[in-house]
Amino acid sequence: MSSCAVCRGSFEPFLSFGRMPIANGFLDRAQFAAEHYFELAIGFCARCGMVQLAGQVERERMFHENYAFFSSTSAAMAGHFRGFAEEVRAARLAEDDAFVVEIGSNDGILLQHFARAGIRHLGVEPSANVAQAARSRGVRTVVEFFDEELARGIVAEHGQADAVLGANVMCHLPYLQSAVAGIRRLLKPRGVLVFEDPYLGDMIEKTSYDQIYDEHAFYFSLTALERLFGEHEMEIVDVAPQDVHGGSMRYTVAHRGAHARSAAVDRQLARERELGLAEPARFERFRRKVEESRDELARLLRRLKAEGRRVAGYGATSKSTTVTNFCGITPELVEFICDTTPAKQGRFSPGMHIPVLPHAEFAQRRPDYALLFAWNHADEIMAKERRFTAGGGKWIRYVPSVGVSG
Ligand code: SAH
Ligand code: TMP
Ligand code: ZN
Repeated sequence: MSSCAVCRGSFEPFLSFGRMPIANGFLDRAQFAAEHYFELAIGFCARCGMVQLAGQVERERMFHENYAFFSSTSAAMAGHFRGFAEEVRAARLAEDDAFVVEIGSNDGILLQHFARAGIRHLGVEPSANVAQAARSRGVRTVVEFFDEELARGIVAEHGQADAVLGANVMCHLPYLQSAVAGIRRLLKPRGVLVFEDPYLGDMIEKTSYDQIYDEHAFYFSLTALERLFGEHEMEIVDVAPQDVHGGSMRYTVAHRGAHARSAAVDRQLARERELGLAEPARFERFRRKVEESRDELARLLRRLKAEGRRVAGYGATSKSTTVTNFCGITPELVEFICDTTPAKQGRFSPGMHIPVLPHAEFAQRRPDYALLFAWNHADEIMAKERRFTAGGGKWIRYVPSVGVSG
């Protein structure tokens, strides 16, 4: 039995992946022997409705001065966050001297737009290397983990905020109660929290089980979040699906009664009832589909190997750590993974130790197949790799189902 990180209820996981390494823990050969492993499993708390990991990895093992994920590696995501910033500025920052706080600001991909416009802002980012990248772009950043205590400190030093923002970070906060209490304290009476995370409904519908890894403590549904914020005298006043990271949801949250609630909220709640996002039978079906997907991908890669085909991975994503370790994808099956992030290049993938090489090696080594680990960036990557495809290169995908395309 596991204990719910939100309400302390107990639950039994519905899906276990076994022993897993740190998802973003790309490592050198000298570090192989000391690599850290933990048991990865996901469950549903029937008491509060939250889908979550069955156990947490200590945060300092994941977020530190060698954090491997730099947000600005995707041009499409840079465009997405420009739009996010514009929306917040237009709709939420009426006051002069507005103040914006971002949790998990990484290399400043979002806050840079506020910084350039001369808007008072503060990024909270515990991973010192990516925080440094943000600072060198003129984004004011503190290297800290966000929680209630930090929120008190921010209010004392800067006053309350008009907007608190977060992208792909709220689901990283296992001490979610403390974070929400902190956000409540931090927001002005008419201030808003606007955040987005991968959406549980998309993960279930697309069998995108690779969203499940150490950093993602939670897999949010509107139903579960509405209850959580309600306990803090706050309410979700708007929701908007986002076409990034395989399907995300953007939530706007305010102090109760401060803003009108959009009809989109009730529509999405009804949609979640239809999807069965609070029904154990739905998660059982998901588990079966995940296991089928694993078996099918492993079979395909073994067949290609037997036929003498060469397969490379495309994008050393944190998600790929779940896929390679769960499906048993060794360097014999996938000879290298190409990635544009300097911090990952020359290192090895967590657990399976597949070499990660610069993007240039992809064209030079001419694999027959590319296994698209960065499937959420498919449009951007397909546009970049027209020559590979035109030259007969094939793409292997596994979301929403395992398949090969030319
Ligand atoms: N917002 C960026 C980065 C997402 S990755 C984007 O959407 O691309 C998650 C980020 O959250 C990492 O940079 C990580 O260091 C940071 N993070 C993890 N735990 C945190 C915490 N408790 N408080 C603030 N940031 C945190
Ligand atoms: P993400 O799926 O977590 O956003 O990670 C994407 C990874 O893929 C990141 O390491 C950068 C890499 N990448 C490439 O190598 N080439 C690309 O064209 C894109 C968009 C990403
Ligand atoms: Zn619970």
